[in-house]
Amino acid sequence: MKKSFDELTSSEKAAVLKRRKMFVTFAKVYPPALLISMLLTVFTIYMTGDFALSFSPHHAAATSGLFATNAVLFGIMFFGIYNYEEAGKFAGRHYLLSVVTLTITYIVSLATTRFLNVYALPLSLCALVLVELSNRRTSMITTLVAACMLIFAYGYGEQFIDVRITGLLISVVCNFVAAIAINSLVNKHLTRLQFIIGALMAALASVPLVIVCTLATGEVGIDLLFNPLWSYGSSAAAVFVFTPLVAIFEGIFNIADDFRLNELTNLNQPLLKRLASEAPGTFNHSLVVGNLAEACANAIGENPNLARAAAYYHDIGKLKSPVYFSENQSTYNPHDELIPEVSVSVITSHTVFGEILAKQYRLPPEIVAVCKEHHGTSPVGYFYRKALNLTEEGDLSVRNFTYPGPKPQSKISAIIMIADTVEAAMRAYTPESKEEYEARVKSLIDEKLKLGQFDECPVTMKDLAVIRSTIIETLPRVQHGRVSYDKKRL
Ligand SMILES: [Fe+2]
Ligand SMILES: [Fe+2]
Repeated sequence: MKKSFDELTSSEKAAVLKRRKMFVTFAKVYPPALLISMLLTVFTIYMTGDFALSFSPHHAAATSGLFATNAVLFGIMFFGIYNYEEAGKFAGRHYLLSVVTLTITYIVSLATTRFLNVYALPLSLCALVLVELSNRRTSMITTLVAACMLIFAYGYGEQFIDVRITGLLISVVCNFVAAIAINSLVNKHLTRLQFIIGALMAALASVPLVIVCTLATGEVGIDLLFNPLWSYGSSAAAVFVFTPLVAIFEGIFNIADDFRLNELTNLNQPLLKRLASEAPGTFNHSLVVGNLAEACANAIGENPNLARAAAYYHDIGKLKSPVYFSENQSTYNPHDELIPEVSVSVITSHTVFGEILAKQYRLPPEIVAVCKEHHGTSPVGYFYRKALNLTEEGDLSVRNFTYPGPKPQSKISAIIMIADTVEAAMRAYTPESKEEYEARVKSLIDEKLKLGQFDECPVTMKDLAVIRSTIIETLPRVQHGRVSYDKKRL
């Protein structure tokens, strides 16, 4: 008998929720993809067919088949991309980016192979843009779908124009090899120049293959020179089109690639300048958290640039009322005039206001998530204890003294939570010995673990151990000028 949702175990519930989330995302992003696949079908007919003939009874089935194939391939592409994104969190955005990149690659490829040379097929464009703005797997899946769609397009066009499908098949295979080489050899952490040189070198992979295939098909003479030139030239052209395209897509899809993250960590960014002048204590704290988070991300194989950028912005919500946070106070403490319940609502609202501000400034969703998740549902211990002391019953629910959450949903959020907690606690603490210092860091992380703050993110116990040892090693190097313990700290 089928169990109701409440009867399922927690792992079964998580699987059901994941499936539901996947279909909700699919329902949101597939309709625009379907519309694009229809437009691509119309474009294909325009390029390879004849409109009147295409919809005649004789060809209608092939035309519908072309549309259905494109629609199905776009659907398969969604599930391929979704399954490889971290908890499918940002898969919708990356899917739409892939659909748009594929569309541009498809249109250009159809035009170049039709009017220039069958080997002029810039599949590398897809691989390049998506390696930089998304990840290797998304790039590979999308390039593969683009290759399949081109084969079907020319298979369809064979009925109308004099096209050699064998030649195109060989070209797709050869240029796909160049795209795989680019996909494997370049990565998003290279500088722009290294990226371009790496891509130009990797694109050479198709040249020997094109020569062998040209010889095998019996084409000799000038084709032996021109076919590899067209193939390599189309990949090289893709490398030069890639830079402006990446800049445009970064803005449209609000992607946190390394170029954007480097811009965001420039201290002249408006939000960081505001933080430095209006909340200098928070600004300095964020810089130290940035150093810790970057080292931790490197140690567990996460994106160090994203970790640093997220750390710089994690406390921007404090800009609403900086003086209510101890790192920005000198002598005056406004909490002395407030009851603990009010103090707590001011303190905890910085995650909510941070999310609003981050969205206003159009920060990437990965950073918005950190602004909202970095305290999870942790209690604000100092004000809870203060309220306990003031209440006559001596009994008070801790729930009214906790952050609204959600708990960290990604490894980066978990890293920021730990780095933030450790930095704030250790800044106001002078340990007696190395052992005491290490034990304190361990107890701070264990406390978050006990509170279940890492229950909703994929961070493992092994990751936590690596994060702990990285922080123990890095913190003394990046945190100077310890201050004496201030009991007013939150
Ligand atoms: Fe915070
Ligand atoms: Fe913080």
